[in-house]
Amino acid sequence: MFSDEHYDKNNLPLANESTNVVVELTIQSITEISEFSSSFKADVWFSQIWHDPRLDFSDRNFCLTNLSLAAHQLSNLWTPNASVCFVNSKKVEIHTSPTQNILLLALSNGTIWVNHRVSLQGPCQLDLTYFPMDTQTCNIVFESYSYNTAEVRILWRDWDAVTIPDPNAKKLPDFELVHISNHNATLLYTAGLWDQLEVVMVFRRLYGYYVLQAYMPTYLSVFISWVILIVLILK
Ligand SMILES: *[C@@H]1O[C@H](CO)[C@@H](O)[C@H](O)[C@H]1NC(C)=O
Ligand SMILES: *[C@@H]1O[C@H](CO)[C@@H](O)[C@H](O)[C@H]1NC(C)=O
Ligand SMILES: *[C@@H]1O[C@H](CO)[C@@H](O)[C@H](O)[C@H]1NC(C)=O
Repeated sequence: MFSDEHYDKNNLPLANESTNVVVELTIQSITEISEFSSSFKADVWFSQIWHDPRLDFSDRNFCLTNLSLAAHQLSNLWTPNASVCFVNSKKVEIHTSPTQNILLLALSNGTIWVNHRVSLQGPCQLDLTYFPMDTQTCNIVFESYSYNTAEVRILWRDWDAVTIPDPNAKKLPDFELVHISNHNATLLYTAGLWDQLEVVMVFRRLYGYYVLQAYMPTYLSVFISWVILIVLILK
């Protein structure tokens, strides 16, 4: 179907209007928050859904309702991938074990669903004023890279745009995710208007961890020295 001579992946799916790309993020795990590099690391499924009427095959095939495609087919399709990028990330990698973690599904009406499992590292705004009873704010920002809003709109899915299915994924040894929200903005650049999506995560430091790890041993050793001192004096 994608070898159709009329299909040119370099052209936008819709000739005269912008293509809506609906984005959804599933956070699988948050592996680290580092004070040293002011960053966090997370494994996420980044999913994009759009409609490409040129790929509608409902009139040609009456049995299949949708097609699950091999990831290499992605290179034959128009995708917003090259265009959606994590602008504030220090590092983004598509998981490659055991194979590249990309899922591609084509529904018969031309709706394309692409899921990437990515490992990303993003910034945190560290404020240690209230340490160790502090909270830290980290964010993920992505926007269209090569298409302005006249060509591609990047939108959050209007229900459950950002989810964390595993409640344990909210807990790190020293932090707990207490709030997560998603926002969208449209930015004005010289080349036009650009959509930008953002996820903001607020983490609270687990005070108990520091009491146990840092303060307790110190207090304990001071206390024990006092006991030893008193015992020696009393003798
Ligand atoms: C875009 O073009 C298609 C076919 O050429 C037409 O059916 C559709 O109404 C047009 N949409 C707009 C917004 O002009
Ligand atoms: C794809 O087709 C299968 C079998 O027909 C169906 O079970 C599944 O729900 C479909 N998926 C979507 C996203 O429509
Ligand atoms: C295509 O089919 C899916 C699944 O049935 C549906 O959710 C979606 O709205 C359809 N898209 C269009 C543009 O018809």
